[in-house]
Amino acid sequence: MAPAQGTRVTEDSGAFTKKFSDRGSYRSELDVLRGVKGDIAPKLLAHDDQRMTLRLEHAGTDLLHLVMNEEQRFSVPQLKKVLSGLLHGLVDLHSQGFCHYDVTPRNVCIHGDLNSDFKVKLIDYGLSFAINKIPESHRTQRLGTPSCLSPEHIACKPEHGQAADVFCAGVTMLQVIQGGLDVFSPNYGRIEPQVREAHLQVPTKTNWGETIPGDLHLLLKAMLDQDPTHRRSELCLALLGPVD
Ligand SMILES: Nc1ncnc2c1ncn2[C@@H]1O[C@H](COP(=O)(O)OP(=O)(O)OP(=O)(O)O)[C@@H](O)[C@H]1O
Ligand SMILES: [Mg+2]
Repeated sequence: MAPAQGTRVTEDSGAFTKKFSDRGSYRSELDVLRGVKGDIAPKLLAHDDQRMTLRLEHAGTDLLHLVMNEEQRFSVPQLKKVLSGLLHGLVDLHSQGFCHYDVTPRNVCIHGDLNSDFKVKLIDYGLSFAINKIPESHRTQRLGTPSCLSPEHIACKPEHGQAADVFCAGVTMLQVIQGGLDVFSPNYGRIEPQVREAHLQVPTKTNWGETIPGDLHLLLKAMLDQDPTHRRSELCLALLGPVD
């Protein structure tokens, strides 16, 4: 999400302490982290309601940092493995009735070694919600990260928030493939047409010249479909097929 003013994250001995300035985001993140089971979210180690701080399990390094700061050139097998981990995580989250609503390259972390064994972690649950308890703010304000919005964020339709997660996962992969460059930006004109035409932006090669195979290309296009009913996480995972 856009940096909530005053939100700070500090690292110490294998854990992260996230300090919130906004009670709404603090509560959302705490509620979801307490409710969600499985491996996709970092474990909640401790929390302090008064100080609005969460102590979280270390999730590794976020994708944006990897591509921008470490100039990581993801190979096609690595891209597929990241996408597989992300989709598995979304299936898990969605099947438990949650929606993340802020999937971006800064909120997807790689835990472990990209060249051998790693896990994909989804962090930052400040905008997340249970699909049967949608916050009113999500119906009245355009929330989310401007460079990684979905048609549902733009139309304020959080009831399709799980489909929005799939769209934003597609945008996240596009941003990685294009070396970290924003997919949507006011510098390119109005955001709405950029979001509408995102499926046309899937390139045939990565920024570092590797051809994106047809099956991955098609899947990314499907994840960026305008119709939210076509964007189900378990369907996309099935389309991806087995990954080494
Ligand atoms: N558990 C964690 N493990 C490792 N890194 C983390 C963890 N939590 C947060 N970070 C790092 O701190 C950054 C900001 O954290 P987070 O996304 O949770 O907060 P935020 O308020 O949304 O801030 P931003 O708007 O900058 O994303 C992340 O992009 C990531 O690099
Ligand atoms: Mg974030």
